[in-house]
This record gives sequence, structure tokens and C-alpha cells, in this order.
Amino acid sequence: MITKINSCGLQGIDGYIISVETGVSGGFPAWEIVGLPDASVRESKERIRSALYNAGFVVPGKKIVINLAPADVKKEGAYLDLPIAVGLLTASEQVFCGDLGGCAFMGELSLDGKVRRINGVLPMVIKAYQSGIKSVFVPVENAKEAAVVSGVNVYGVGTLSELVDHLSGRKLINSTKIDINEVFGKAAKYSCDFSEVKGQENVKRAMEVAAAGGHNVLLIGPPGSGKTMLARRLPTILPDLTFDEALEATKIYSIAGKMPGGLPMIMTRPFRNPHHTVSAVGLSGGGANPKPGEISLSHNGVLFLDELPEFRKDALEVLRQPLEDGTVTITRVQGSCSYPCNVMLVASMNPCPCGYYGDRKHDCTCTPKKIASYLGKISGPLLDRIDLHIEVPAVDYEDLESNTKPESSADIKKRVDKARKIQNERYKGQRIHSNSMLTPALMDEYCRLSSAANEMLKTAFNRMGMSGRAYNRIVKVARTIADLDESENIEQQHIAEAIQYRSLDRKFWA
Ligand SMILES: Nc1ncnc2c1ncn2[C@@H]1O[C@H](COP(=O)(O)OP(=O)(O)OP(=O)(O)O)[C@@H](O)[C@H]1O
Ligand SMILES: [Mg+2]
Repeated sequence: MITKINSCGLQGIDGYIISVETGVSGGFPAWEIVGLPDASVRESKERIRSALYNAGFVVPGKKIVINLAPADVKKEGAYLDLPIAVGLLTASEQVFCGDLGGCAFMGELSLDGKVRRINGVLPMVIKAYQSGIKSVFVPVENAKEAAVVSGVNVYGVGTLSELVDHLSGRKLINSTKIDINEVFGKAAKYSCDFSEVKGQENVKRAMEVAAAGGHNVLLIGPPGSGKTMLARRLPTILPDLTFDEALEATKIYSIAGKMPGGLPMIMTRPFRNPHHTVSAVGLSGGGANPKPGEISLSHNGVLFLDELPEFRKDALEVLRQPLEDGTVTITRVQGSCSYPCNVMLVASMNPCPCGYYGDRKHDCTCTPKKIASYLGKISGPLLDRIDLHIEVPAVDYEDLESNTKPESSADIKKRVDKARKIQNERYKGQRIHSNSMLTPALMDEYCRLSSAANEMLKTAFNRMGMSGRAYNRIVKVARTIADLDESENIEQQHIAEAIQYRSLDRKFWA
């Protein structure tokens, strides 16, 4: 007999349907899996044999052929254990059940028949739903994550025996349901707040501008000035995740196997701060079985590179293209896949090896050569992709001991939300949604400078010997400052503030 069981695989952040065809026929006992299985799929034979035995079934002593269609895509991972086991049980007529055409199965089996959690359930279930499948059977630990997809019945399976009982109608598994509106309706919770940062009003204002326009930020300052502290609080003033953004972020965490326990969805803006020893692959994604890297795990959130010059040069260089495009493409022999990475990059660094170059209170002990080589670790093109360069001076004693409570994240966020709303309306129908994404063509359309603003920018351009790219960045940031000001045109004061955020590269890198 031949049976067909549906399952799902992963390509990039999307799922695709796999049909597991099982043929059991008379002849010399043998077991063959075809359709480009990788080693982990071929090894499934041993797991399935043992799991079947422990559930009271056998692998029949006949000729068994399992075909994984489409046959031209490489299948990797152990999630095909469950559909192969179901295929075997039905094709060898050990289990009788109704038509399974409207069902899909995914899960890894352990030797004793337990069903283990797998990665990437969410995109797989989304694909199953889009393909008209009505019921999905997933590992019980993945059931909540799968239940985010409404419109499909989700059954969390604990063991192979449980599944057989359900399919043959002996004992049904309860379907898993979650009220997504209730889960998603809760306000995002963060464990830190801008009200804990004393003084540093200029820096906080710059962070607000960055958040309002989605601009990348570089924080430079002496040790202990609060750079790490400020960066960690950036997500608290970013707009709430929309449902679609949350779904995209959840897909990526699901594929990477990094879903936080107990939560069906990623509900707060991701904040990732990889250690500076991270490899290029760790940062941008890839590997033999491709996985999203840190930049994709920060999708729709913040990628924080603390102590920027300590990162490996090759790792930083691979970030350049993804930062510009918003996607990482990984090319391998078996084909390529891409992961989205629409991130706000926040980087922090000291201005020199001792940390005090340019500081008001301490003398720097580094030689000019040492300083130059330290700053030289950050390449010009990378620096150019960062719109705001902010100097974080050491905090004043008066600010630290002051009793006045600084403004809270919630209050700053209100202004950010307003500026973002203006941008959303302005860019309706365009492919961008924030000022940081403006292309030169769109800048001509949306960034009108008053004549005084124009004059000021012209003078600065000639005096400071700016590059074309620096010019674009200043106009974009000025657009955001004007939006915070609810001003349609870009005025002189907006340009003046934007130029300030660009002058550090002259101070340190000139
Ligand atoms: N403005 C501030 N208000 C309140 N506390 C502050 C402020 N700035 C610094 N601190 C305190 O100093 C600590 C160190 O700050 P942080 O780690 O952010 O410094 P940093 O600039 O990242 O230093 P490094 O260059 O050494 O990494 C903070 O955890 C916080 O307790
Ligand atoms: Mg730090």
C-alpha cells in the first residue's frame, strides 16, 4: 500500500510543504529514504524503529520506500520523524484512520516514543494554513507557538502512542487554543527605563531623534559615562511592535530555536548584544545548516555592538550590505536563502585605548599613533552607515546627586510615536516607513529645506569637506528633527542640530 502524509520544511524564514510518500510492498526486506535527505533525516530510521517498538508496533519486514517530495530540495532536520512514522504505520496497515489529506505532521521522535520540540514551527504552520491544511500535529512543547496561527486546529503531541490513539479515534487529544488578542494586547514590559539615567540631556535628546527616525547610532565616550546604560534603554522608547512585526520576529526566533519559554510570541522589540568575539557567521547568519545570525535576531529591534573596535574586522565588514538592504542572503551549494534584518544599529566605543581622549577631566595617556590605529579599526564605509554620532561625556556630579526625577521612557515614547505616525502617513504607498530608509529620489520629494536651512547646509558642506553620503544623512536626520517638531519644512534649527550629530567623525577621525 502507498500513503501520502503532509509535512513542512523550511526555506529562509518561510515554510514549504513536503509530501512524505510511503510504499510498503512484498520483496526482500529493505528500507530506503529518497528525495535528498541529509544525514539527520537518514538517521531517523533508527529513532523511528525504536519509537515504533516502544509504542507496540513494528517496522514491517518488507520492502519500504519513503519518498520526500519535492525531490530536488535538500531536507534537513529531524522534524520529519513524525510524518515518516505515521506514513509507515498507515502504509503497513498497522493503524487505520480516516483520510489524512487535511492534516500535517512535524516532530522529532526520541527512542522511547516521546515527541521532541523542533525549531521553526511557526513558519511551517503558517505555510500549512496557507496551503489549505486544517489540522496540524506538532510537538506538545511547540503547540502554543503554533496556535498563534488562527484558522487551523493545533494538536500538541506528547508521544507517538498518544498520536495513534487520536488518529484511530480511541482517545482524542484536545486542540490547543490561545486568544491572540488577549496575549498581544498586553503592553510591552521592559525591566529598565530612561528615568534611571541622570543628566545627559543632550545624549537623551539624540537617542530620541534616533528612535523617532529609526536611525543608526554611535555612542563615543570615556569609561563609565553610561553608554551601555543608554543603549539598553533604547527599545523602551521605540514604538510598540505591530502584530505583523511581532509575527516576523517570532518566525526568526522560532527558526533559530530561541523562543523564550512560556511565550507564544515575541512581544517586545528585540534587543541583541552579541559579545565582541562573535564570528562573521554568528553575526550575519549562515553555517552548514543555515541559521539566522544576530542581525536577523534583532530584526524590527536593536542590534547593540558594545565596544565596537573590539569586534573582528571581518565580522563588521559583512554587516555593511545587510544594514543597507535590510536582508541577509546566504548562498550555499544547495541554493540560497534570505533572512530579514531591518534593525537599528547602536554601537558604543571609547575614543582611544585608555578611554579618555578628548575628556574634560582626565588626561589621555595614548600616543597619537595608538589612537589612530584604534579608531582605524572602524572602517569609513561602516561609519558612514551610522546617521548619528553622539559624544557621551562623563556624567556631572551635580546630576548624579540631584533629586529631580528624569523624564520617563513612556513620556519620551509619546513624542517618538507622534513623529513615527507622521512618517507612516507620509510614506503610505511607498516601500519605506521611516526617515532612515529615505532614498535620494524620495529625499527630493519629501525633504524640502527652507532657504535659510539650505544656506546653512551649503556653508557647512563646503567648510567641513563633507561627502555626498554625509550630506544625505544630515538631511534625513533633519527630516526626523522637523517631524519631532511637527514642522512640514526643514528649517535652519533642524539642520543645525543634525549637523551637530555628524561633527564627531571630524573630531576623532579627521
Ligand atoms: N547618567 C547616569 N545616571 C545614573 N547612573 C549612571 C549614569 N552614567 C553612568 N551611570 C552608572 O555607571 C554605570 C556604568 O555605566 P555604563 O556601563 O553604561 O558605562 P559605559 O559608558 O558603557 O562604560 P565603558 O566604556 O566602560 O563600557 C551604570 O551602570 C550606572 O550605574
Ligand atoms: Mg559599556
